[in-house]
Formats: sequence, C-alpha cells, structure tokens
Amino acid sequence: MTAPDPGFEIAPWHLRWQGLDLDALHRTESIFALSNGHIGLRGTLEEGEPVGTPGTYLNGFHEKRTLPYAEAGYGYPEEGQTVVNVTDGKIVRLLVDDEPMDLRYGTTIAHERILDFRSGTLRRSTVWESPTGRRVRIHSERLVSFTERALAVVHYEVEPLDADLELVVQSDLLVNEPISVPRDDPRLAAALDRPLAADFATARDHSATLCHHTRRSGLRMAAAMNHELAVAVTPRCEIYAEDDLARLTIAVDLARGDRVRLTKYLAYGWSSRRSTPALRAQVEAALAAGMETGWETLRQRQRDFLDAYWADADIEIDGDPELQQAVRFALFHVLQAGARGENRAIPAKGLTGTGYDGHAFWDTETFVLPVFTYTMPVVARDALRWRHSTLDRAREHARRLGQPGVMFPWRTIDGAEGSGYWPTGTAAVHVNADIAHAVVRYVAATGDERFERDLGVELLVETARLWDGIGHEDGAGGFRIAGVTGPDEYSALADDNLYTNLMARRNLDAAAAACARHPDIARELGVDADETARWRDRAARMLVPHNDELGVHEQSAGFTHYARWDFAATPPEHYPLLLNYPYFALYRKQVIKQADLTLAMYLCPDEFTAEQKRRNFDYYEALTVRDSSLSAAAQAVLAAEVGHLSLAYDYCVEAALTDLHDLHGNVGSGLHIASLAGTWLGCVGGFGGLRDHDGEISFAPALPDELERIAFRLVWRGRRLSVEIHDHVATYTLRSGDPLRLTHHGTGFRLAEEPRSFPIPKGARVPRPAVPSGREPYRRQRAARS
Ligand code: BGC
Repeated sequence: MTAPDPGFEIAPWHLRWQGLDLDALHRTESIFALSNGHIGLRGTLEEGEPVGTPGTYLNGFHEKRTLPYAEAGYGYPEEGQTVVNVTDGKIVRLLVDDEPMDLRYGTTIAHERILDFRSGTLRRSTVWESPTGRRVRIHSERLVSFTERALAVVHYEVEPLDADLELVVQSDLLVNEPISVPRDDPRLAAALDRPLAADFATARDHSATLCHHTRRSGLRMAAAMNHELAVAVTPRCEIYAEDDLARLTIAVDLARGDRVRLTKYLAYGWSSRRSTPALRAQVEAALAAGMETGWETLRQRQRDFLDAYWADADIEIDGDPELQQAVRFALFHVLQAGARGENRAIPAKGLTGTGYDGHAFWDTETFVLPVFTYTMPVVARDALRWRHSTLDRAREHARRLGQPGVMFPWRTIDGAEGSGYWPTGTAAVHVNADIAHAVVRYVAATGDERFERDLGVELLVETARLWDGIGHEDGAGGFRIAGVTGPDEYSALADDNLYTNLMARRNLDAAAAACARHPDIARELGVDADETARWRDRAARMLVPHNDELGVHEQSAGFTHYARWDFAATPPEHYPLLLNYPYFALYRKQVIKQADLTLAMYLCPDEFTAEQKRRNFDYYEALTVRDSSLSAAAQAVLAAEVGHLSLAYDYCVEAALTDLHDLHGNVGSGLHIASLAGTWLGCVGGFGGLRDHDGEISFAPALPDELERIAFRLVWRGRRLSVEIHDHVATYTLRSGDPLRLTHHGTGFRLAEEPRSFPIPKGARVPRPAVPSGREPYRRQRAARS
C-alpha cells in the first residue's frame, strides 16, 4: 500500500489542489469528477489538454463487445458491456495572441482547483504566462446539476493581466476523443475505438447539437450546448457543427482589466428506444429550460440541494481533520454516484472513470445502499427499482444455467451478466441475497409499503427461489450450498461459504415473511404454502460450517484446513496478489482478499455470540490482505464491535483515504464508490454501532482514543435523528418526527422532543489481533516508513 503525496490541503468542506503536477492528472481528474448520477464529467482541464483520461459518461449508455475466451464453455456470457466516453462538452480552449493556452508550455504562475462539498461545484483559478510573455488569469466553475438532471454548466472567465491582448475562446462539443487505456490490469476497461457513429449535427447562433449512436448496442444519444457571453467590446463569433465536432469561436481584443465571461450550458440525453429527432428535441428543451433558469439560480439550487443533503447525512468528526475532510469527500461522491440515477445502476466507479468497464456489482446493495437508505431513501428505492427492471434478464440467465428463480449478474450495465471469468463472476451467487437484504433494509427503514407490494415481494421471491435449485440436502438433516464464490475472491467455487449460506437463509426467511404479509401478491407469483414452508425449513437447516477444534467458524467448509499463505515471504510489491500470483495458487491457501466471514458477522449479527465474533474476527484478521477496497470498512465495523477500537479507527481511516491517497494505485480509472460508502459504514456502523435487524435499528456507540467526538445523522421511518458520541456519553436527538423507541448498548429507551444521553460502557481491553505481515493499516504503514 504505497501512495503518492496526495497534495490536497486539509479543510473541512472542500478539497483544494494547488500547483501543477502533470503526473497526477489521471488521479485528480477522478477526484475532481462531478456527477449527478446521470451525467458524469471527469475533472479535466477546460482547455482539453494536457489530459489524463478525458471522460464524459451517461449512466447506462454503453457499447457491447464480444467477450474473448481462450476456451469457450456452455453458458458463458457471449457479450460484455463497456461504458462509452460520450460527447465531451467540458472543453473551452483559449488562444492568447495566437498561442494555445496549454499548461505544458509557457509558465504557470498560479494554479488551483477546489472541489466544494457545499456548493457542489468545481472551481479553478489559473494565472498563466504564454511563451511570448503574455499573462492571463482564468477562473472557471462548473457544475453537474442535481436539480436539473440533464444539465451541466461551465462558467468560464478570462482576464488579460498586462498588455491588451487578442483572445480567442473556442467552446467545443467533441466526439470520439482519442483515449489510451493500459491493457494489463483486469480491473480496467476494454478500449473502444471511436465508439460513436454520427447521426445529426446542427449549429446556429451560439448553440449546437450533435446526435450519435453506438454500433452494436444500438443506443442513441444527443448532446447540445448553448452559451451566454458577457464582454465589454463586441466579439466576433462563429459557430459550426460537423459529424464529431461542434465549435463556437469567439475572437475579441481586450484591454487590461476587461474580461470575457462565457457561460456554457450543456444538455445530454440518451435512449434505446427514442429516435434521433426525439432526443434532439429533448436536449434542446433541457437547454432552453436551463438557460431560462440561468447560472446564478442553478448554482443556488445546487447549494440548496446540498444543504438539504448535509442536514440529513453529515458526519462531524473532532480530533482528526484529515478524516473529517475525507468523510465529507466520501459522502459527497457517494451522493454524486447515485443522486439522480433514477432507475439506473450505481456503478462501482460511479461516473468518474471507466474502471471495471463502468459495471455495477454487489457493491451497490451491500455498501452504497445502506448510506442512501439512511440519508436519502428515495435513491435507494430507485436503485432497487433498477434491479427490478432487470428481472427478466436475471431470469433468463438462471434458465440458461438450469436454475429456478433468478440469477442476478455479478457485473453489468444493462442487467445481463458481463463477467467472463465465471468462477469469481457468475458463481458469486450471493449477489441475489445481497439484493434481497437491501430490499428488506429499505422497507424496514422507510415503511414503503407500495414499494414492497409493487417490487419488493417479487425481488424477494425470485431471489429466494434460486437457493432451492443450487442447494441440496446433505443426507444428515442439513441444507447445503456447494460450489459458489463468496465475497473473498481468493477462494472460488467453495462449498458452504458461510456468508452465502447465512445471507441465503435471510433471503429465504424474508421471502416467506413477505408472502405472508402479501398473500395476494404471493399468489400472483405462483407461491403456495408448500413453497414458503420449504423456504423456512431450509433456512432453519442451512449448514453453518464451524471448526470445533479451533473454536472458529469456517469461511467455507474445510477452509481452515488449507495451508496458510506464506505472508512473511511475500514482498510488499507483490500486492495485490491477483496481479502477481495465479488464482490456482491463491484458491488453495488460507489467504483472504477481502472481508467475507467478517462481513457476515456485520450483516447477520444475530447468528453469532459475542465470543464467537471476537474469536472469528481475530482468526480471519490474520489472513485478510485487503486487496479489495471493499474490505477495510467491513473490518472497521467488526473491529469496533469486538473491542478493537484503535484498529477500527485505522481501518476507517484507510477506507476514507483510499481514493484521496490512491491506496490501490488505480484511482485514475475511477473512484472506489463502495469504499467511500464504506467510510460511512465505518463511522456509523463501527463507532455508532448501528445495526438494523428484525425491522428495528439499534446503537452501540464507542469512540477510539484517537477521536474526541463524532456526530452523525440518520433518517428513519420519516424521522430525522442525530447521534453524538463525546466524552464517554452518547446523546440521541430527534430532530423531527414522532417519538420512537431505540436501543443503546442493548437497553431500550424512548426518544421524544428531549434529547437523551447515556454513558458508554467501558469495554474490556483486548489485545490487538495480528494482521498479515506487511499489511498493517495504511497510516501505520506510512508512519513506519517515515
Ligand atoms: C472485489 C469485488 C467488487 C469489485 C468491484 C473487486 O475487487 O473483489 O467484491 O465487487 O471489486 O468493486
């Protein structure tokens, strides 16, 4: 876990980057990406170059490609999907007395960028001297609107700093930008060459529209731009549009102190069904509405939207300013990944890069949706609606593999399985149970009966049916699930993966309970009393592997009997192991990529005693190398529960800094949204001890010595709550809504208008467990090196 100097100024509500480091472009473009869950713009410089990876994405817009196999097999997915870099509207080029403004030439006198978590904008300020000694100051501010879903705006201002200058500003819509993608890392994306074919181009006055389609997936899109121009003298303006480029050119002679101010409005739309004229009409309408609203009002609406978000979602941390900033950075990007996705997936990288081909995984339901369920539940509902809309594909996939019910894909954009490496893809059937779990959590937290009736019951029933097909009776009264892959991808095709079995058990019970609540819907879905009785019976008899001699649960049957990985002989540069060792070696050893059994102890807390949790945690801790960014957060939550508060803090920090410090060396291909969401889990599930179980929530707060105070907020069944942990006391406040009953460290209490405070029981001091050698949490590694 090595990290470059992150280079960000530490501040509670923004992220500021000063100076120019061209090697950091890929990294900072992901970190400064703006998105509303529908449109995503990487944080590239307005002038288009220098650039790491130009990126403009529309959620769900993808191209298909044939998946290459050295040896094909029955049932392998034939086609994969890859996110497409669409029409780039961020570009505003500048020429200063004929010299293209390019930070690789001339002198950059000052340069800073600020991602502001409250205004929801990216600001930039640059003072540049051209190779011939002409100086200009540039200010820009851009937003991708949370309130106007199809809209983004770039506000751009140039000012000559000394002599009178001839400036030319060119505002582009650019299609099929060249992109170089390294090909030696399976976590990156397939390279698509010129993915968009032109359908239509038009330009008039200050506006232009370009329409394109993808060749194989047959999706159509439109992008449009229009401009407001403020300048003291009359400029010369020209506009044109051709297949892959539309350009507004503004030439103006400016005296020192004068300014050109350009507000560029961008609208995007795509569809698999709507025609090119319909899409054109859609984006031009969105643009007209956006311009009618105007930059200042759009900016104000952005701020209001974020004020409302922070009022329900903020986490305050005293004692570690870097963690405070990282937590807000995380919450901001999680919001950006999902806010206006509206019936589309929340991809593992959000809309910040092409990593993992833009696919969504179980990350959404297990890591991201808890955050939305308790802060902005409508987003959780919409993401589950998207899953529901893909039921037919999941059904088809199950049929192809000879299974009942549905098999949701391991990785996908449009609902079809996109994993070509089936042992860690298709076989990771726990995704079914993860979705079911998210449905149960959402319904419990909101009481949204309409969702449950319309979509929830069907999701629960169809996911539950799979376990009937892939499980079997073991002849000794147990029900087993063989040959599946759990969360730990350094084990594949394991028998009785404990996580899968326990989550399947919950899935089966939840489906039976939902059918009992809604017998009419159950009937429509063809569920009868025999089926629900069978589900309950199998759930009760589900095998839970345990090694009695060691006194720990088994991650999967026989796991603790494998040879241990030789951690001492593994040099630090050999991590992540997946890039340096064959799966053949990893699968046969006790070495764990990411929290698996530990995650099960978090999501299924009632299945383990406190003592079992402690023993299990310590055992698996020594084997878990955290080669996946999903791991640290889950470890943080459990570490806090079993009393390793300082370790929990270390893991929470690691999850929070994963992207800011580029801990996995691949942030350039996009942010790790699950890890960012995991930061919330670490704080709220770890230090707050929040658990949701049996339709109720409970808290068991505790603070590590490293922190002075944490306060967080939650939305629960229409109420707004806050919890503050400070000075060995937890204070619960009902900010709005009806009184309710809560639990503090196992003791129930009623919360009404008056805040309630309770002491935090002193936990027994427990020795810090061993971690694999060389895999200490990030800050400890950094401290050891310096
Ligand atoms: C992890 C998976 C995860 C995927 C996408 C992989 O490295 O092992 O659990 O779903 O990344 O984030």
